[in-house]
Order: sequence, then structure tokens, then C-alpha cells
Amino acid sequence: MSAALAIRDLHVELGQSRSRRTEVVKGISLDLVPGRIQGLAGESGSGKSMTAMAVLGLLPAGGTASGSILLGGDTELVGMAGRAYRKVRGKRVGMVFQDPSASLHPQITVGSQLADGMRAHLGLSRAEARTRAAELLALVRVPEPEEALRKYPHQFSGGQRQRIAIAIALACEPEVLLADEPTTALDVTVQAGILHLLRDLATERDLAVLLVTHDLGVMSAIADEVAVMRGGLIVESGTRQQIFQDPQHPYTRELLDAMPDAQDSLVDGPAAGSTTAEPEENR
Ligand SMILES: Nc1ncnc2c1ncn2[C@@H]1O[C@H](COP(=O)(O)OP(=O)(O)OP(=O)(O)O)[C@@H](O)[C@H]1O
Ligand SMILES: [Mg+2]
Repeated sequence: MSAALAIRDLHVELGQSRSRRTEVVKGISLDLVPGRIQGLAGESGSGKSMTAMAVLGLLPAGGTASGSILLGGDTELVGMAGRAYRKVRGKRVGMVFQDPSASLHPQITVGSQLADGMRAHLGLSRAEARTRAAELLALVRVPEPEEALRKYPHQFSGGQRQRIAIAIALACEPEVLLADEPTTALDVTVQAGILHLLRDLATERDLAVLLVTHDLGVMSAIADEVAVMRGGLIVESGTRQQIFQDPQHPYTRELLDAMPDAQDSLVDGPAAGSTTAEPEENR
């Protein structure tokens, strides 16, 4: 299957002045495939978020990307102008971040936030957008979607807010979803629900997902493929089974050794795509 997003020899440099530039991503390659979740693991500062930000064209001021990021086999994102990028972001590439509140406007109803993007990007009428907004909330399993449309973000729990942020990310039917630490800020009791949702969405909607997380427990629960980053490079990549059961790189082994018990309890669970491994206490 061809990649929904093909990253080739991506380099990212940050820093405002020439003399103080640092390379934080040093030539990585990754393929995101429809229906699959590609995990990106690694210690803090290894360049995971900057990789996602480079795909989104949202690097910090002065940041530059080089190499190639090919979307849908036809659209080169590296070097794309801002105006064109705005049509890609939100429409062809959806995004979900650690803090759902950051992607939700506090003073606009959930219904309007969902509908606005669809009206702008898809040209839907107000009524069409409203209908689809309710469908999307049902899809991400927000209870009573019709009522939820009229509410404001603060009227929902953290887990529900993240579901709403996911609904917004999916509103324009993107080919690719980038999720950067989507469960890190959430109570452990709701993390598993969000992970299952991402798993189901990838499978059912043929979404190509990049799941960025430093949490190997999260990774072992839902990623199909895992890449391990360190110091701006991918030191090892493979299927979830390869990485967790037969790690080759010493750094991957180090990460696994530091992981609290989870590798045993999660990896032996059912294969990704079916009802995913989920420890009882995480429900
Ligand atoms: N806004 C910024 N300005 C300058 N440097 C930055 C900025 N954001 C990140 N960096 C630097 O870029 C490097 C990669 O950071 P990145 O945020 O990609 O790490 P990460 O792997 O996502 O880590 P974490 O697990 O902590 O989120 C780090 O050295 C970091 O200090
Ligand atoms: Mg990060």
C-alpha cells in the first residue's frame, strides 16, 4: 500500500540567528500508511514534536525543514507556502495535541467549532454542517451529541474535550492524523478510552495516524509500527512486536527496561485492530 505521508531524510533546524542554529531532527524517514498507527517514541527532547510540527508547517519562528514530506503521493509539504499550507492543515492533515483545551476555543460552542471548519473547507451549508457535527460527536462517542453541540468546552470533562478535539481534527476527513501525546494530560482512567478511539478510527476510516508519545505503555497498546527517536535520529523501527519483544538497539532496550511492568501486561494482549490490550484499571 502506498504511503499517505512519506517522510524522507527530514532535517529540522531551529534558531533565529545563523550562528545559533541547531539541528533537532537529523535526517529521518517514515511512512504513514492508511489504516495503520505509526508510533514515534523516544526521550524528551529527541525531536518527536518537531517532526510533527514540520509536517504541519508549524515550526517555531525561524525553524526550517528540509528533505521531503510527500502527502498523498502528490503534494510536497517541505517548502510549501503559507497560504497553500492552510488548505492542507485541518483539511488533509488533522492534528490532536496533549492539551485539548489548547485546540478548543473557550467561548465558542462545540457545534460551531465543528461546523466552522466544515463550512470553510468543505463548503457545507449551515444545516449540513450541523448534521455532520452531531454525527462526528457520535463517532467519537460523546454522549448526547445533539445537546453537546450547544455546550461550551468547559462543560465537558478532560477526556470528553479530547474526544471533541479529535472530532474537530476529523471533521474534514483528513488522510493523515497527527496525535502528539494525546493522552498524556488525561486522567489514567480515561486514557485507554481515547486510545481505543484512535485505534478504531484508524481502522474504520482508513486513517494514517502518527502517534507521538514518550509513553511506551501507550505505544505497546495501540501502535502497529514503532520508531524510536534519540537525538534527532530514528535509532530503531519495526512492528510493535519486533520493538517490544525483540529490540535490537541498546537504547530501545534501555527504554523498555525503564518501563514499569507494562511491557508484559500490554504486549501479550490481543493484536492491534481487535479489542486492544487494556489493563482493567485503565478503563
Ligand atoms: N520552540 C522552540 N524553540 C527552540 N527550541 C525548541 C523549541 N521547541 C523544541 N525545541 C528544541 O528542539 C529539540 C526537540 O524538541 P521536541 O519538542 O521535538 O522534543 P520531543 O521529543 O517532542 O520531547 P517531549 O517528549 O519532551 O515532548 C529539543 O532540543 C528542544 O529543546
Ligand atoms: Mg513533544
